[in-house]
Amino acid sequence: MAIPEQTHVISVDSVQPDFAAIHVAAELLRAGQLVAFPTETVYGLGANAHDSAAVGCIFSAKSRPANDPIIVHIAALGQIDAVAREIPDLAYQLAQHFWPGPLTLVLARHPNIPPNVSAGLPTVAVRMPVHPVARALIQAADCPIAAPSANTFSRPSATTAQHVLQDLGGRVAVILDAGPTPIGLESTVLDLTGEPVVLRPGGVDLEQLRVFIPNLQIKPRYIATDADPANAPGQLTRHYAPSAQVLLFSGPVGPVRAQMQQTAHDRIASGQRVGVLVIDEERELFVALPGVQVVTLGPGDDLAQVGARLFAALRALDRQGVDVIVVRALARAGLGAAIWDRLLRAADGKFIAVEG
Ligand code: TXA
Ligand code: MG
Repeated sequence: MAIPEQTHVISVDSVQPDFAAIHVAAELLRAGQLVAFPTETVYGLGANAHDSAAVGCIFSAKSRPANDPIIVHIAALGQIDAVAREIPDLAYQLAQHFWPGPLTLVLARHPNIPPNVSAGLPTVAVRMPVHPVARALIQAADCPIAAPSANTFSRPSATTAQHVLQDLGGRVAVILDAGPTPIGLESTVLDLTGEPVVLRPGGVDLEQLRVFIPNLQIKPRYIATDADPANAPGQLTRHYAPSAQVLLFSGPVGPVRAQMQQTAHDRIASGQRVGVLVIDEERELFVALPGVQVVTLGPGDDLAQVGARLFAALRALDRQGVDVIVVRALARAGLGAAIWDRLLRAADGKFIAVEG
């Protein structure tokens, strides 16, 4: 593939995407180029999933290790047979309930899908997004689209076209810009190749999945960063991470808030630039600290909004050049499981337990 000389950002309506724009992007995909596009979760960096060379370009554009497998996106259930094989009944049940939507199923890989999509694994991750732009693009390209999140490897995922441009400008032919992605956290990844196990909590809650799989387990992925990266790069702890160090506090709310204020104060006193990531109600506790950058995530009881704003907030603090980001754990039920996962990985797998 020729390296694009520049990246074209094309605005598209998020509900009724303009056919001409979709057609341009689809033709580029068919010609082996990369196209970034919005999904309901985050922006994806897409290539024709049947084109091994184009898929290879995804890895180089993102600086992604070759042993981190990529999700294949389809627009209709009929496409699944050309992507996966030996598909269990449970996959169809889940697809009927959760597709199109933010659920990714790991299945046995069909030989049509080149091995580098799945980093050589005999499995393949499949998802049917609900975002009209993603659906229109897959339909127009008339092929399944392999797409990881459209960020540089280990950075926070891109929830706007501007984030994609910041990370991948000059490395992708076209970015379809349909505004911020509504969920803002990636899909839930569910492995169905053995005993069902959630590999990544995401846009579909574990509670919703347990209606279908009562004893569903979640496999902890918080392994140490000094683990051999060749073994399980997708499971490296530090991920979704800004350049700044993230200090994640967990414990009873009152003492945690006090500890966060103290830490912010101490770090400022020692000459560091401090960012604080808080729910709206906590803004007042920090704005008076001189020099502190406070970014809010929305009301504490609205985890959908917190999730939707999280990655953009981490990126905003990075752009403000802070050295350290102070944040606390929120409720872990529902979407809270995915929010906790992303915060913990941004914090290098470590949190600071505050006693009551
Ligand atoms: O919401 C999403 O899932 C977004 C949008 C663009 O669809 N995509 C996304 O892709 O987050 P990515 O590559 O950033 O994350 C995919 C995750 C990785 O943790 C990867 O290791 C895992 O899915 N994965 C992909 N294929 C797999 C496979 N065959 N077996 C196990 N895990 C797999
Ligand atoms: Mg990613």
